[in-house]
Amino acid sequence: MPQLFFKMHFVFFVIALSFTSSLQAQVRDQHSFSNPEQIISTHLLLDVTVDFDKSELRGFVEHQLQRQQKNANTLVLDSRALVIEKVLQQKADGQWASARFQLGKAAGILGQSLSIQLSPDSQKVRVYYHTTADSSGLQWLSPAQTSEKQQPFLFSQSQAIHARSWIPLQDTPAVRVNYQARVRTPKPLLAVMSADNSKNTERDGDYHFDMPQPVPSYLLALAVGDLHFQPMSAQTGVYAEKIWLDKAVAEFADTQAMMDVASKLYGQYPWGRYDLLILPASFPFGGMENPRLSFITPTVITGDKSLVSLIAHELAHSWSGNLITNSNWEDLWLNEGFTNFFENRLMAEVYGKGRADMEYSLSVAELTRAMPELTEPDQALKLKLAGRDPDEAFSAVAYVKGQLFLSFLEQKFGRARFDQFVSLYFKTFAFHSMDTDRFLQFLQTNLLDKYPQVVSKAEVEQWVFQGGLPDTYPKRPSDAFSDVEKQLALFIAGTPQWQTSNWTVHQWLHLLDKLPRQLSGQQLISLEQQFGFSQSQNAELFVAWSRLAIPLNYEALHQPVQQFLLKVGRSKFVVPLYRALAQNPHWRDFAQKVYQQARPGYHPLTQAQVDKVFQ
Ligand code: BES
Ligand code: ZN
Repeated sequence: MPQLFFKMHFVFFVIALSFTSSLQAQVRDQHSFSNPEQIISTHLLLDVTVDFDKSELRGFVEHQLQRQQKNANTLVLDSRALVIEKVLQQKADGQWASARFQLGKAAGILGQSLSIQLSPDSQKVRVYYHTTADSSGLQWLSPAQTSEKQQPFLFSQSQAIHARSWIPLQDTPAVRVNYQARVRTPKPLLAVMSADNSKNTERDGDYHFDMPQPVPSYLLALAVGDLHFQPMSAQTGVYAEKIWLDKAVAEFADTQAMMDVASKLYGQYPWGRYDLLILPASFPFGGMENPRLSFITPTVITGDKSLVSLIAHELAHSWSGNLITNSNWEDLWLNEGFTNFFENRLMAEVYGKGRADMEYSLSVAELTRAMPELTEPDQALKLKLAGRDPDEAFSAVAYVKGQLFLSFLEQKFGRARFDQFVSLYFKTFAFHSMDTDRFLQFLQTNLLDKYPQVVSKAEVEQWVFQGGLPDTYPKRPSDAFSDVEKQLALFIAGTPQWQTSNWTVHQWLHLLDKLPRQLSGQQLISLEQQFGFSQSQNAELFVAWSRLAIPLNYEALHQPVQQFLLKVGRSKFVVPLYRALAQNPHWRDFAQKVYQQARPGYHPLTQAQVDKVFQ
């Protein structure tokens, strides 16, 4: 018996050991210069001053080191567009001494390696640095670019590989750090981070943060502005410029309900609080799942909760992405596909199956539109990014094809079994990174082999490694959408009988999706007269309409489009709008003029994308 006991323990020990060592970067991340296989930074202390006059962040970052290889003596960090002032190392006796360092050659989007020579006994390094105008992970806004126009604003956006442009660190999602930070700001402003944001902080320009749970570098986040807080529930609340507070609290009032449902589905919410930060309209994304504090575009505050699936999405990332993290940007679908799947489950539970079905169909439509534009390899879930910017392969594939693959499994195995599988996945790999191969192994053992002859390995591999969309994805017909299609058919036949008084935003979006791309001027005008799309305050509707009407030279759009482009910088909206404008010879000059005026207000990521449109 003791022998057996010993054996079992030994086996367990070996499994645990191989498990842990494979947790950290077994495949080298080609988007990082860092060397976590030799040395890992396990804890990071950030100490910076936010200088709005110079638009620069200045201070130091301290890394606590853990050698993976005993004799490792070079720490390699990622950096981009940073000025490194000096590097110190702390020896075993506690004394700080200077350390030799070298910046590698600039390599485009990857930036520069920062190699630091370590003494054998040093446990910590401190890098003194400041950011520059090319630090793509930060956007500095003048007061005029904010909603209230009184104070400047700064926010970071680190995903995918922009953290290195505001902190020198191991910028790979395969490594996790705990962090603490001290941030100094001008007195009237408040700083918040993806960490513990103490609610009774004195607004004294000196802020302290602690993030006790380990997070990958792309989840490091900071924002500074004239921010105020309003609670929504015991666990949730909103940070925003005052103008937005009441509106945001009303719009996102169901956040706690979403959290409760999510915790029931896949296990307790792992991060303590969940707050939302409403950013200025130039925020380049819809949302960013910074832990404990999702960053949110104000363009989803519509007054009718029609776009709150974004909150469900960012919240769902608290499990898929933040708890289990893609170990490489080629595995982005593990973050985004799971999250889209999870988001839709939350929407069904909180707002009903009808709404979730509509959102599912709209997603499928988006994927179907995107697919033909992509190369065959970019249509696979597992991406190939060698030599490419991870932002470049960003598409509906990771999100929607990923979601449909999981929906397919759910349908085949049944909801109960699939939910059980997903819960086990979250529990097993919490706070670790994951790549496609390891996920497939786990799937094989815990689902395919457990319930044999339901789904074959070949089917799974087709979904994951091949282009195209397998037709085996579950279809979810929607009565509300059938009604839209019926009425649309009458309109096209020239006998419109619109009855739209109870339509939801989703139905309108479906209508705009389904309208033929060739409409007569008369048809356009009749739609506009009845439904006033050009004046819609819902950005999704406005942009869908504009994308339809710009190629048809709908002149009345000039002014609203200009207004929109000067106000909003979310790339999902502005990039397709500029594309539509630039492709139409009658509108190209107009577009260029508007862009000239709007460009300084856009985020560097958005600027880069729109620049390409006009190249
Ligand atoms: N994590 C993403 C944003 C992201 C992805 C930034 C890849 C950089 C690289 C975030 O969760 C997201 O998916 N946002 C979407 C909203 C969502 C509802 C599809 C967005 O911003 O539109
Ligand atoms: Zn996402």
